[in-house]
Amino acid sequence: MGSTHPSTADTWQKALRTLTSKSELPPTAMPPEFYTSADLFELEKESVFLKSWICVGRADEIPEPGDFYTLDIIGEPLIVVRTQDGSCKVLSNVCRHRGSVIMQGRGNSKKFSCPYHQWTYALDGKLLAAPLIEDNENFRKAECSLPVFKSTLWMGFIFTNLDGQATDFEQHVKELNSYVENYHVEEMKTVQAGPEKWPVNWKCLAENFMEGYHLTPVHLNTLHPMTPTRLCEKIPGGKGYTGYKSHYSESFKGRKPYHEDMTDEERAQSMMVWIYPSFVAAVSPNSAVFMSITPTAAVELQTRWGVAARTELFENDEAAARYDFAKSFNAEDKERLIDMQYGLQSRFATRGPLAPPDYEGTIWDFYHYMAETLADKLPSDVN
Ligand code: FES
Ligand SMILES: [Fe+2]
Repeated sequence: MGSTHPSTADTWQKALRTLTSKSELPPTAMPPEFYTSADLFELEKESVFLKSWICVGRADEIPEPGDFYTLDIIGEPLIVVRTQDGSCKVLSNVCRHRGSVIMQGRGNSKKFSCPYHQWTYALDGKLLAAPLIEDNENFRKAECSLPVFKSTLWMGFIFTNLDGQATDFEQHVKELNSYVENYHVEEMKTVQAGPEKWPVNWKCLAENFMEGYHLTPVHLNTLHPMTPTRLCEKIPGGKGYTGYKSHYSESFKGRKPYHEDMTDEERAQSMMVWIYPSFVAAVSPNSAVFMSITPTAAVELQTRWGVAARTELFENDEAAARYDFAKSFNAEDKERLIDMQYGLQSRFATRGPLAPPDYEGTIWDFYHYMAETLADKLPSDVN
């Protein structure tokens, strides 16, 4: 074998450490094991996903009181529900009696009843009844509510933080709002959002969604005619996010109808946003494609993805067509990523240089976010 890039032998710990030091580095891909390591996967669950804001879906998926759906994030069974007071809440879906999962799928319910011994909870998680146990002196009903996780709404998306310690969400995305607020995604209606599993590391998909370098080669007949690589323009990243403007080609007429607040520039681009760790969205003038990605193993992810569209698009079949279009370019990405994952486990996989900031600068920003987030978890003797 010939000579390889000098940093080929870097561990992911060393590569992250280098990013937190002051030494200047040219933007370089992380070592392959950043995308394959089982140790890193364990660390990410506890130190990234448990502590961060994770998108669990859209508020309009549960329009009426009692509407709910269940999902799993890093092995935590959750219920997302619209309560009687009209707010969206995220509850643990684990019974306070002996740990059974309570609800399955989605639906509308007045209460949540555990199928095992019929403990019954209100929509806000309070225990309502526990058959034949209520006279026991060590039973305290008030102490047996389902945990309710901190949650917030942003542009119609529900974000939750499982450990309750994350920085205030508004702080997290503060400067990002000015890039996306005129699109009024909160007024859009969700076409569909469902979980899928891909045999790919979660970071590969988040990075792929958020770099424009592959748009032309991978999506030559789908996205390239509208948003070619050469017209990508990165925005400055913040502590909790990064993004880029995917300007429309001269021949693409754009996506109507627009919200009247939108500027001429906003009407002629899709705004690509990445809220760390793993919420990504392509916000276009009349619709948005979004993904909330979480790891289920080192080399397996869950993506809960969907499309939200302005209500006018539901008057004909355009909303459904937007979803089908997203499905087709997602399939193109999936094929590439499965191939890349196979390549990443090669003994000869290496660290390549990243393309200029407009094309892959979002990945470089993300690496720095990961380095800062995991800084105090890295062994100090990494060299
Ligand atoms: S485990 Fe739920 S009622 Fe017993
Ligand atoms: Fe893509």
